[in-house]
Amino acid sequence: MRLNTLTVQNCRNIAAATFVPHAGLTVIAGENGQGKTNLLECVYLLTGGKSFRGAKDQQLVRHGEEMAHITGHCHTGGRESAIELTIAGAAAQKRGRFAKVNGVDYGRATAIAGIFTAVVFEPGHLSLIKAGPEGRRRFLDAALCQLYPGYIGILRRFTRALTQKNALLRHYHATHDADALLDAFDTTLAATGSEITRRRAQYLAQAGPAAERYYEELSSGAESLAIRFSPSAAEGALAEKLAAVRPTDVRAGFSTAGPQREDFDVVLAGQSARQFASQGQQRSAVLSLKLAEAAVAGQVTGEAPVLLLDDVLSELDETRQAYLLKHMNTGQSFVTTCDASAFSRTAGKVVQIKNGQIIE
Ligand SMILES: Nc1ncnc2c1ncn2[C@@H]1O[C@H](COP(=O)(O)OP(=O)(O)OP(=O)(O)O)[C@@H](O)[C@H]1O
Ligand SMILES: [Mg+2]
Repeated sequence: MRLNTLTVQNCRNIAAATFVPHAGLTVIAGENGQGKTNLLECVYLLTGGKSFRGAKDQQLVRHGEEMAHITGHCHTGGRESAIELTIAGAAAQKRGRFAKVNGVDYGRATAIAGIFTAVVFEPGHLSLIKAGPEGRRRFLDAALCQLYPGYIGILRRFTRALTQKNALLRHYHATHDADALLDAFDTTLAATGSEITRRRAQYLAQAGPAAERYYEELSSGAESLAIRFSPSAAEGALAEKLAAVRPTDVRAGFSTAGPQREDFDVVLAGQSARQFASQGQQRSAVLSLKLAEAAVAGQVTGEAPVLLLDDVLSELDETRQAYLLKHMNTGQSFVTTCDASAFSRTAGKVVQIKNGQIIE
């Protein structure tokens, strides 16, 4: 997967810009507030019209303009494709995000998902380590949804049954024949839930060792990372487990076991990263997970997604920065930095951005 050229018109603070990225690493350098993240956001929009910052149309269109246009010429699926994206803001007649690929109108931009793929790291992702298990489950589920089209359906059936079961547990004593109804929900939950656990375990069996390897390289072997998945039940044992916790569920008023409570531990030098890791170590750990996400996607689909790393260099020491700028070898990547000295330290290309204008 490679972006060969990018043209942006009236997106965020970028009035008009064209640039040719490096086939390996492109460093986007500039001072605060000049448009570095905006430029990464434009690249990410080519994956299907979504902003990784969750921006609305109106926020993406440059102030005072009606529409934003982003065009990317990409190498994907063994051929060259031109992706054209139009974002129509509040002033436009037909609002929303629309896409064309090689001149063919796809309608809504979400329809082009899968043609150009990217993995993004932004500082908010540090919550993968710092915050509770929900974000880690979301990380797993998002990756699985992208890689296996059937996964989203299983996840939806599971979530629907869980919501209904929890509603029933809240009114257990007032419900006629509640146990028979719970049995029916448990049948669905056991079938879909064990599939979710199986897929998550399988994903981590690939991504975990990859993340561990990246961490070792990033830290030049000084520290080791370990990813440990805790499945909600052993394979084939979820139905039994759900039956066993029924009295606990009834007392608690909600479902107390299953993949909705699963988590994986990120362990650094034998200790929980969430509690003990420094800022830089947490950043390195999340980065390793993101690099692993891209590597697994590359293995499964045969084409490594483009990596977009926003603000990843701050808090990393010299060795780690050097690894990222010189030795990282995972296909095409884009890294933003405020540090102009990145110029002399990269094997790739540096583009400068100032007030929304690119200086190559
Ligand atoms: N729709 C818009 N129209 C015009 N300008 C915008 C729009 N949306 C955002 N901006 C401006 O774009 C500027 C650059 O934002 P961006 O987040 O890309 O900065 P940055 O270079 O990544 O800075 P930092 O180093 O602080 O992360 C901001 O000052 C913001 O006000
Ligand atoms: Mg930024």
